[in-house]
Amino acid sequence: MSSEIVQVQALVIGSGPGGYVAGIRLGQLKVKAMVVEKAEPGGICLNVGCIPSKALITASKTYDKLKHGADIGLFADNLRVDMKKMQTWKGEVVAKLTGGVRQLLKSNGCDYRAGTAKIVGPGTVEITNGASVTTVTAEHIVVATGSRPIEVPGFPFDGKRVVDSTGALAFAEVPERFVVVGGGYIGIEIGTLYAKLGAKVTVVEALPSILPGTDPEMAQLVARKLKKLGVEIVTGAKASAWAEKDGHAVVTLQVGSETRTIDTDKILVAVGRRPNSEGLGLETIGVTVERGFVPVDRALRTNVPGVYAIGDLVGQPMLAHKASHEAEVVAEVIAGHHAEMDVRCIPAVIFSDPEVATAGLSAEEATRQGREVKVGKFPFAALGRAIANADTDGFVKVVIDAHSKEVLGVHIVGNGASDIIAEGALAIEMGALAEDLSLTIHAHPTLPEAIMEAAKASLGEAIHVVNR
Ligand code: NAI
Repeated sequence: MSSEIVQVQALVIGSGPGGYVAGIRLGQLKVKAMVVEKAEPGGICLNVGCIPSKALITASKTYDKLKHGADIGLFADNLRVDMKKMQTWKGEVVAKLTGGVRQLLKSNGCDYRAGTAKIVGPGTVEITNGASVTTVTAEHIVVATGSRPIEVPGFPFDGKRVVDSTGALAFAEVPERFVVVGGGYIGIEIGTLYAKLGAKVTVVEALPSILPGTDPEMAQLVARKLKKLGVEIVTGAKASAWAEKDGHAVVTLQVGSETRTIDTDKILVAVGRRPNSEGLGLETIGVTVERGFVPVDRALRTNVPGVYAIGDLVGQPMLAHKASHEAEVVAEVIAGHHAEMDVRCIPAVIFSDPEVATAGLSAEEATRQGREVKVGKFPFAALGRAIANADTDGFVKVVIDAHSKEVLGVHIVGNGASDIIAEGALAIEMGALAEDLSLTIHAHPTLPEAIMEAAKASLGEAIHVVNR
């Protein structure tokens, strides 16, 4: 057993898109900092979440496009999926990015340490790695420990039949049958991907529709496409139990007052995530924890001076880019600059088919805030680029203040939405008016023209659709 004492100005616990970004920015601001991580650098996002899922989603999309290539004059013989090869490629994508994290921390002058951190007293953290214990004293502690999947009673994760998103992204074979419990972000993204690779997928959602919280018109479009892919969506249903039978699993569902069973090979449970606030010693120094979350102010300060929290740990939305932004703010705060979370919107993307991307307020939310709104809508079916892409499902909605013409929300369903939402977020962040979007020349033929046209439609000036 070896022990060591290290002194830093700031210690960051966790190296996900919150923690590692805080480390980089602290290094840039000349704060002597260290990031400690008990697993691999990059957190859930880079290792087993956002990045590997997007790699597999890309592969499944390409396969699906090729399968239907005949419509556009492309014929491929003997097209098949080699899941092992796909997994190897996914691993290379992940390795490239996680390797980059350590390199970036180093080149910005921030230390990286492998080990499990526990706060043992004010400004004091113990890092355990095997037999070695390092005691770190730090003026500032940033807790960025993220979240983990919630388990459903009757469905403990066993890594074989019942998996979480991490397990589902690591399948060595495409399951023949695949039950997804939870029709939210993860369930829909991973369910779609395996449906495209050939699995018979059933999505079980407790609420009346999938992707609750999403504009119903957008969620319906995603549901329609899923059905086209052969996915069965069972709404208003709760998975209550499962059992092993003749070499497969049988899932029992309660659909209203009825009981139904489904035979399957794998079960993904994706019903939300809970914050990782236990076992960190937060209680030792009196940090308030409410229902697992750590409350913070706009400067990401907890109730204990010198202790900060960022990312999934501080609450919804549990999104990587929100964590990274908070990380930059917290680094500025620690460096003694005046900084706080001051954002008008946090865009959100669901990598479904078609993709869903939103920034800012929906018309209903804006109305609830007492604003009179106008909504301009433009369909992908009227957009040259979408037609040439052979992918016309979708539309853009731009929500504006009826009086000031300020852009309040941009909502997109359609493939490419994930990339083009950035323009909507920029518009909202800058307090742009509908005219700023509608009078900016957008290159033709491109998908962002749909945002320009929807902005024009909000003013009754759309060119390629009839104004109502
Ligand atoms: P979620 O909150 O998005 O969806 C969970 C779904 O499960 C909901 O529709 C809920 O009604 C349903 N549900 C809850 N209990 C149920 C039960 N017993 N039976 C059937 N359905 C049930 O959570 P999810 O998909 O696990 O994702 C967690 C978080 O991860 C998301 O909220 C998001 O913040 C983040 N994420 C973000 C992604 C992105 O940005 N593209 C991708 C994946 C995850």
